Amino acid sequence: MTTVDLATFEHLRSAAGQELLAEIHRCAGRESDLALGTRLRRDHPVELVAAAVTQNHLRGLARTKLGDDAQHLYLTHDGLEQATRASVAQHRAARLVASGVERVVDLGCGIGADLVTFARAGLAVRGVEIDPVRAAIAQANLEVLGLPGRVDCADATTVPLEPDEVPFLDPARRDGRGRVFDPERMSPPWSHVTARLDGRAVVKTMPGLPHELVPEGVEAEWVSDAGDLVEACLWGGDLAGVPRRATALPGAATLTGTGEPGEVGPVGRWLHEPDDAVIRAGLVGELAALVGGRLVDPRIAYVTTDASAAHPLMRSFEVLEELPFREKPLKAALVARDVGTLTIKKRGVDVVPEQLGRRLRLRGSQPATLVMTRAADAAVCLLVRPLPRP
Ligand SMILES: C[S@@+](CC[C@H](N)C(=O)[O-])C[C@H]1O[C@@H](n2cnc3c(N)ncnc32)[C@H](O)[C@@H]1O
Repeated sequence: MTTVDLATFEHLRSAAGQELLAEIHRCAGRESDLALGTRLRRDHPVELVAAAVTQNHLRGLARTKLGDDAQHLYLTHDGLEQATRASVAQHRAARLVASGVERVVDLGCGIGADLVTFARAGLAVRGVEIDPVRAAIAQANLEVLGLPGRVDCADATTVPLEPDEVPFLDPARRDGRGRVFDPERMSPPWSHVTARLDGRAVVKTMPGLPHELVPEGVEAEWVSDAGDLVEACLWGGDLAGVPRRATALPGAATLTGTGEPGEVGPVGRWLHEPDDAVIRAGLVGELAALVGGRLVDPRIAYVTTDASAAHPLMRSFEVLEELPFREKPLKAALVARDVGTLTIKKRGVDVVPEQLGRRLRLRGSQPATLVMTRAADAAVCLLVRPLPRP
């Protein structure tokens, strides 16, 4: 439905459009797309059938990202791609509620994935969206979920805010030619976003955001979900609690700090791989201190401890022994240990794990995990045992 126009979307929302959607949902998979399309086009306009077929398809695709709501929501390809995952939107909404916020204005709400989540968390919401079709879709999405709130089709950079509305911005990181990397080319642009952050405001942005772009006094929260680093969220005004935060969902395990460099020392009996949110937040030194450990190298995100340690923001391994780093003696060591299936993790060394794995051509019966990295300025290869996640 990327190219759906407003009139077709309104038709889709009418009783006739809803019947058509329900029929497509019932028949899709039982009848071929071609046969179904041909049959429906006899009684309905071509563009309406196309919009309804696409809608049904997108609802199926959206399930993983948007959960059970997906089957009711109106979507476009672009809108779905830009939408925030349900788990991440829920985390943000819960944090706003816990901070005592009551009203949010979503400035550039797209199809409204964040917007409906704010509303469901009990916040009073207003959406602002410059694209008329997306604005209509966001409004419809509030309505189909039975949630209060209104969406204005307007330019977020000029729309007046009501005094108690906390602005939320998720600037578009794509233009007509694809993904944009220059923050000033986001829409709304970074200069507008940072001006909003002078007061109470929340901004979702890319996880690769350079630290120097985070304005003074603003909290930057890097968020991962099921191990995927998904966003950096900026909290302005009195919503900022700490300079930097790493949060891992589900569970919302959190680590905060300022980005202190960690102590460095020799590899101990345990090795820990921090969550990507910790790494991007620059909090590896703080994580090491928290678990009573040290870094294996000042530039590499591995933490090591002498005693066992567990934290939801890291994956832990027991170091079994050090093996040779060079390929030939490494192969001999692995053959001697009857290794067949090898998992290779690497950081800070010039190794391509898939290629090395293929070249080693191991035929043994045992699984093994190697960590290839730098410690004390030398390349090391550690045979490790992964521990279950805490
Ligand atoms: C990344 S999407 C928002 C996605 C949304 N948070 C969600 O989860 O569904 C950004 C949206 O901002 C809108 N936008 C960009 N510039 C805008 C402006 N100046 N005023 C209002 N909306 C704008 C775009 O049309 C796009 O739909």
